[in-house]
Amino acid sequence: MRAQAEDEQAIAASADSYYSEDEQDWGEPGPVLVPGAELAPGYRVVDHLRRGSRLDVYDVWSEERGCRCVAKTLRPERAEDEQAIGWLRNEGVMLTQLTHPHLVRGYEIVRTAPPDRPAVITETLPGLTLGYLLDEVGRLRPVDAAVLGIQLCSVLGYLHRRGWVHLDVKPSNVVQTGGRAVLLDLSLACRVGERSSAGTFDYLSPEQARGEPMSPAADTWGLGSTLYEVLAGTTPWAHVSHRERTSHGGRYYPQRDGAPAPLRTHRRLPAALSRTVDACLAPDPTARPTVAEVSGRLVNWSGIDPMTFGD
Ligand SMILES: Nc1ncnc2c1ncn2[C@@H]1O[C@H](COP(=O)(O)OP(=O)(O)OP(=O)(O)O)[C@@H](O)[C@H]1O
Ligand SMILES: [Mg+2]
Repeated sequence: MRAQAEDEQAIAASADSYYSEDEQDWGEPGPVLVPGAELAPGYRVVDHLRRGSRLDVYDVWSEERGCRCVAKTLRPERAEDEQAIGWLRNEGVMLTQLTHPHLVRGYEIVRTAPPDRPAVITETLPGLTLGYLLDEVGRLRPVDAAVLGIQLCSVLGYLHRRGWVHLDVKPSNVVQTGGRAVLLDLSLACRVGERSSAGTFDYLSPEQARGEPMSPAADTWGLGSTLYEVLAGTTPWAHVSHRERTSHGGRYYPQRDGAPAPLRTHRRLPAALSRTVDACLAPDPTARPTVAEVSGRLVNWSGIDPMTFGD
């Protein structure tokens, strides 16, 4: 697991995350647990992996299973944050009920040692996040991007058929493990039709930026942004400076003003592939293909048979 090596980078990146919560002062940051400390009955800390604005992620040892797991819990000072508790519980319930080879598996929701908080225990995925991989290799071969896209379409279609929208599809929420892309982090997931304005700057659909009711098309957008980044080596909005993003005392979302530059302005790519990615980034959600259509186009272009995955 290279999650720890990503720690600093992830904390820096979290400045670009935006959650539709009231800005509130939660007081002094609580301490991070050290290796050997008990996170919850039966779970000892192996390492602290990441601290985000609301959450801590730990590598833990499960006494019951005799194996390492990942535990996601609230930062200590946010133990009373009802909204964050609700989001984490929602994620835990989904991850322990949904089963798909391209979705991280949830084991259980436990209560931590004081301060009492929920913690979601999941399997540990060996491998690198796609975000880390891109930092190492810059960008992917077109055929590898197609495999990634087909696998993400498979898990996103599964979520959509159950009435969920993920809303945070991005490279740091995908782990590449032995040829398999696995989606993480359902902390922003909502039901189809609910309003949401939560997400991460570079991967946020125009309708999320406007706080509108969510449809599966928001995930087509996140998928398109992710495929754009793995193929171009840059996100569609990387050229927008931090200053512009936070100008006028608020948040400026360029995706509200029009489509990004076509993928082929960054890299010569087969037209069928680049057109598929560009279509995912149509400003009008109803003009975007469904994930099943994206998958079909990627299969047609690449000739890959998804039934051979896992052979
Ligand atoms: N099951 C897992 N196996 C391996 N690494 C994991 C696992 N879950 C989380 N991680 C690591 O921890 C990081 C943060 O996890 P996650 O995205 O679930 O939390 P988060 O606080 O909601 O993150 P963010 O706000 O950055 O989206 C991931 O990018 C990954 O590096
Ligand atoms: Mg995440």
